[in-house]
Amino acid sequence: MPFVYFQTFGCQMNVADSDELRRKLFLRGFSETFSTIDADLIIVNTCSVRQNAENKAKARIQEFTSIKKPDAILWVTGCMAQRLGDELKKEIRGINLVIGAKEIDNLDSIIDDHLLAGTFNSSAVHSRTSAVSDFVTVMRGCNNYCAYCIVPYVRGDEHSINARDILENVRIRVSEGVKEITLLGQNVNSYNDDGIDFSDLLVRVASIDGLKRLRFTTSHPKDCSEKLIRTIADTPQCCHHIHLPMQAGSDRILQAMNRRYSVSDYMKLIDMIRKHIPDADITTDIIVGFPTETEDEFAQTVQLVRDVRYTTAFMFAYSAREGTKAANLTDDLPRKEKLERLGRLIATQTDITKAIYDSMVGRTLEVMVNGRQEKREKHWMGQDNGCKRVLIACDNAQSGMILKIKAQRSSGMTLIGELSA
Ligand code: SAH
Ligand code: SF4
Ligand code: F3S
Repeated sequence: MPFVYFQTFGCQMNVADSDELRRKLFLRGFSETFSTIDADLIIVNTCSVRQNAENKAKARIQEFTSIKKPDAILWVTGCMAQRLGDELKKEIRGINLVIGAKEIDNLDSIIDDHLLAGTFNSSAVHSRTSAVSDFVTVMRGCNNYCAYCIVPYVRGDEHSINARDILENVRIRVSEGVKEITLLGQNVNSYNDDGIDFSDLLVRVASIDGLKRLRFTTSHPKDCSEKLIRTIADTPQCCHHIHLPMQAGSDRILQAMNRRYSVSDYMKLIDMIRKHIPDADITTDIIVGFPTETEDEFAQTVQLVRDVRYTTAFMFAYSAREGTKAANLTDDLPRKEKLERLGRLIATQTDITKAIYDSMVGRTLEVMVNGRQEKREKHWMGQDNGCKRVLIACDNAQSGMILKIKAQRSSGMTLIGELSA
């Protein structure tokens, strides 16, 4: 039986795409291996969002060309594969096939064209390990063209997957034991399938029997509606976690980024979330050092982080991406300066994260068990109804259970607790 090895870089969208490819390969008789030297097929699913992401992927591909079995096949998929295409094959010798992110809908024929029919038996179907949490893509592509972002170029036009297929997909996962689903799209708030908007979709998915928790990512602030916030508040399966990328705290930079909302629009949304869902964990993405960002504008970003009090944030130094609008601007901040700003922002957010975690000590939380904590006996990893990590000390638990846990300690980024009496 042939073995496939996966290496996935980038966002959850890529994780979901790797999964789709994995399922298709399993149907054709493949098994997954976690050892690179046993692999007959190695797949590197790549990201292009920052130069760093591409550098990492290239280094890994290079490494595979030298450690793989001589006859093993090497495929490069995803966003960098889309951006660079067959150029990649010239740059790195030993890649057999480059499959761009836009080709995701043609995977079946690509696989069949490139893996000799009949070589592999197709009797065994191996579903993925006993994951209790899974991703389901509801939208592909993006039309927003934020000035810094490569995603619309490598992922193509935005389109919604039809609701019937999504519901069927979720039902299958749930029947396989999945308890928690995260719906994925670059901008789920613009979901539209023949009048079914994202709030309607959430309600429908939530009603699937056996699904305990429903999450989603990412919400673009420009079309995050009160209807959506109310729907989350009113639908018990919806987790109280909203990821709302802010990107920058000054109106001038937001406009240069083509984000189409102002700081005041953003703060109104935050207030609305706090009003309807007081215990919501709000998280964000922020870019520092966008071209022409001044020290004062950066200070406004730091202030906004303080005002909102995010539970956690993903923070990045701006990286110019060829072909985007911002790439025409002078990337004027020295890298050292960008990293210095990034460091200050991270320090601010780390303190806030710690304060939020510390404030949970003594409270009882509903925690879903995600799996064992490998390093400690009788400890389990879990997540509360928002996005907080919880380490559970208990003799017996099972992945997918929702337990009432009393938080006893905080490490500043994890809560440690026990079953509540
Ligand atoms: N669709 C999501 C974001 C997807 S990319 C949204 O609109 O919110 C994830 C994050 O990477 C972005 O939110 C942004 O903060 C960051 N990012 C994207 N392009 C970048 C670039 N060129 N340099 C630095 N960070 C970038
Ligand atoms: Fe990129 Fe903006 Fe689309 Fe997000 S919404 S993927 S940041 S272009
Ligand atoms: Fe995701 Fe990276 Fe592509 S963030 S959409 S894998 S460019």
